Amino acid sequence: ARIRHYKWEAKYEYRSPDCFKKLVITVNGRSPGPTILAQKGDTIVVELKNSLDTENVAIHWHGIRQIDTPWFDGTEGVTQCPILPGETFKYQFIVDRPGTYLYHAHYGMQREAGLYGSIRVALPDGESEPFAYDYDRSIILNDWYHSTAYEQASGLSSSNFSWVGEPQSLLIQGRGKFNCSSLTFASSDSNGVCIPSNPECSPYVLTVIPGKTYRLRVASLTGLSALSFQVEGHNMTVVEADGHYVEPFVVKSLFIYSGETYSVLIKADQNPSRNYWIQTNVVSRKPKTTPGLAIFNYYPNHPRRSPPTSPPVGPLWDDVAPRLAQSLSIKARQGHGRAPPATSDRVIVLLNTQNEVNGYRRWSVNNVSFDHPHTPYLIALKHNLTKEFDQTPPPDGYDFKNYDIYVKQNNSNATTSSGIYRLKFNTTVDVILQNANTMNVNDSETHPWHLHGHDFWVLGHGSGKFDISKDPKNYNLANPIEKNTVPVHRYGWTALRFVADNPGAWAFHCHIESHFYMGMGVVFEEGIERVGKLPTSIMGCGASKGLRLP
Ligand code: C2O
Ligand code: CU
Repeated sequence: ARIRHYKWEAKYEYRSPDCFKKLVITVNGRSPGPTILAQKGDTIVVELKNSLDTENVAIHWHGIRQIDTPWFDGTEGVTQCPILPGETFKYQFIVDRPGTYLYHAHYGMQREAGLYGSIRVALPDGESEPFAYDYDRSIILNDWYHSTAYEQASGLSSSNFSWVGEPQSLLIQGRGKFNCSSLTFASSDSNGVCIPSNPECSPYVLTVIPGKTYRLRVASLTGLSALSFQVEGHNMTVVEADGHYVEPFVVKSLFIYSGETYSVLIKADQNPSRNYWIQTNVVSRKPKTTPGLAIFNYYPNHPRRSPPTSPPVGPLWDDVAPRLAQSLSIKARQGHGRAPPATSDRVIVLLNTQNEVNGYRRWSVNNVSFDHPHTPYLIALKHNLTKEFDQTPPPDGYDFKNYDIYVKQNNSNATTSSGIYRLKFNTTVDVILQNANTMNVNDSETHPWHLHGHDFWVLGHGSGKFDISKDPKNYNLANPIEKNTVPVHRYGWTALRFVADNPGAWAFHCHIESHFYMGMGVVFEEGIERVGKLPTSIMGCGASKGLRLP
């Protein structure tokens, strides 16, 4: 195993990823930032310099479990204090599994500002994947807003609630196309705010050699949107999800939710005399954003040559059935994957609702909206700073009998809390995500839930209200996929199982940036007594101020 050393600088710079000029957080001048390429067992060292001048930062290594290094998970408020402007913070962790992972800012709504990138971990020398391909490529899908993360956050946390709205464009590997002529203010071109011919917003090009097979690693880090992804005229075979091998299945459209990664195999087997569209479009919410486009370029056609056809029409945005079907198709590949424990020690049901708490619009689980404290949990727990967060744990369930998930409810008894779930070390925990109606009539949203520090087995998905007396009988215990992010579909439920065997404090939250910001998350603690001495570099804020002193 090797040590891979990176020196990164996070900085605000003007960029025009969708032709519209705005301040973007770049890493070493780029957004998406540099790709981390490593091999299983390698140690990654990232020395991150915060050159944001007036803003804190923290970076989360999404999908990396941080075994023995819970303090380098990069989750501000949970595992570390924010990195102050001008400071350099050293992350150091082992990538212990091959697969496709991500990194992104985990401080406020900063991910939206463009600080994100890919991590690709290869197998050790001499081992090979259980599928064949000629070339390996990575792309990240994202949605893009022209307002700043600050503007969005202030709107969301104001009593005069202002919703972030639908994104202005969709980006494929950091490139999209906003329709500059739709801007209402005058002379948009002459003042340089939106220039359609700016090379920064020319579409991403994936060049392929006819007859070859490509492993395309597709990830989503959208702030809001659920996406469908397609390559015109080509089928995709899904082979990996969140770092685990999938029993292969073929799709024309891949549904992907924020925080998920997939590998698909695509064979360049179509008429090679032209190019094809790569396209992504919004599903699950009524799309107000034009689809994102990139070019699937058959060598030696010119990479900028537009395909002669119009882009493919994606699936219907409001059809849940194919999305649920895809979720149900994702199983562990035969001969791979670990079997889950046959039973669990604890079942936690998390009802996902939207609420009004003290005049503020919030998202909650079991009527509790999450507010994280000023002192990171990991430090507060390890140093027994019991006053730093609410010691009452949130409830393990909701009023299952009486709660109607199909109607709009005020949930007027909702509260905010910094309380967390304390799990017994090494026990098996089931989490049932239960979706419900929002505060709009006939409306339920898709929520992709992401667990830090673990992978979980996806035991089942269903529509309607989860019934604990019946539904567990249909759990897939034979070949469930392991993932770190999974959607709970509109008015549906999703059942997960994981083993609480990674000492630390771990966030579990909806990966929609605004939802988490509005309280849609929880924290799990397990084995805190087994956590080694915390590095002082994570300290310095809240009650951990004094702890930083040498
Ligand atoms: Cu990728 Cu806590 O998130
Ligand atoms: Cu959500």
